[in-house]
Amino acid sequence: MIPYVDLKAQYRAIKPEIDAAIAQALENSQFILGPAVAAFEKEFAQYTGAAAGIGVNSGTSALHLALLAAGIGPGDEVITVPFTFVATVAAIGYSGAKPVFVDIDPASFTMDVTQVESAITPRTKAIMPVHLYGQPADMDPILEIARRHHLIVIEDAAQAHGAEYKGRRVGSIGDMGCFSFYPGKNLGAYGEGGAVVTSNPAYERTIRMLRDWGSEKKYIHQLKGYNYRMEGIQGAILGVKLRHLEAWTEARRAHAAEYGRLLHDSGIGVPHTMPYARHVWHVYVVRTQDRPGLLAALQRQEIQSGIHYPIPIHLQPAWAELNHSRGDFPHAEKAADEVLSLPIFPELTADNMQSVASAIQNAGANRL
Ligand SMILES: Cc1ncc(COP(=O)(O)O)c(C=O)c1O
Repeated sequence: MIPYVDLKAQYRAIKPEIDAAIAQALENSQFILGPAVAAFEKEFAQYTGAAAGIGVNSGTSALHLALLAAGIGPGDEVITVPFTFVATVAAIGYSGAKPVFVDIDPASFTMDVTQVESAITPRTKAIMPVHLYGQPADMDPILEIARRHHLIVIEDAAQAHGAEYKGRRVGSIGDMGCFSFYPGKNLGAYGEGGAVVTSNPAYERTIRMLRDWGSEKKYIHQLKGYNYRMEGIQGAILGVKLRHLEAWTEARRAHAAEYGRLLHDSGIGVPHTMPYARHVWHVYVVRTQDRPGLLAALQRQEIQSGIHYPIPIHLQPAWAELNHSRGDFPHAEKAADEVLSLPIFPELTADNMQSVASAIQNAGANRL
């Protein structure tokens, strides 16, 4: 069996460091925020190139608080993409603003920057590009449009720790960058976690307050805040894992290159790395018009895979209020019908990849 991810293999490889960090966290008994979270916030901000990081309890909370810090609320509009995990759009909903979609560029699966300007209205306050699968959106045109229209740029970098756009790490390119540390992410906690990074001290201060009941001083609540704090144990674990992130990322990049070599003549569409990108391969996505056939071929060889994501958000029942229908965002819809995510994680072996490629080659010969 080849798993889609193998969190146990990763834990075994760093067990002594993790166990020591958890033991230390228990010894300190600072279970909410505390020194391990503060240390991780500094190190992670530095890693992204931003001045500050604020640890929170999920990537979704990170997005929510970034929107609130930007002053976004009811009556406002935020431009994003429908081809993403639901959390991007849900966070806009939590703020009270309306999500406004533009289609994706099918080459990168990220925001089609040529469509952004026509989606702007007098109510537009922010643009939220998603660095999907670990590949940055095309940030320069987004920043240029934002500057001209006085919009805030919030990066959804939940899948893109360490990804670079023209040599700059994502998260520090827009006004704020939001990360998820969900266990399967490139940098994953052993539970829920997230962070906002920013170089704007006003945003930093507001987010620090909002994550902790709107308070800087105990029992004085300047803002209507939330319980969105990062746990001490997660901060300790993330501090250890951050030291390994670059090696893990390089392993992912080597695996993606190997898949590219193995699959280039297999008849399925292999992912395209944009010339501006350092892709960090959170997900390795191939395209096929016979996804059920490919899935069955992989399943016969006990190879796990995923679909990220089968239904774009504009067609989800929860977002029916936006009044979209099939045909509104054709590239997102086509991608949702065709994408399949192959196993990619640092500990994946050359043998594993050869087996995946053989299963795909055989499927191609038989039925694609
Ligand atoms: C693109 C994207 N945005 C936001 C999130 C939300 O992060 P979390 O699950 O940590 O709340 C995720 C991951 O789940 C994601 O993939």
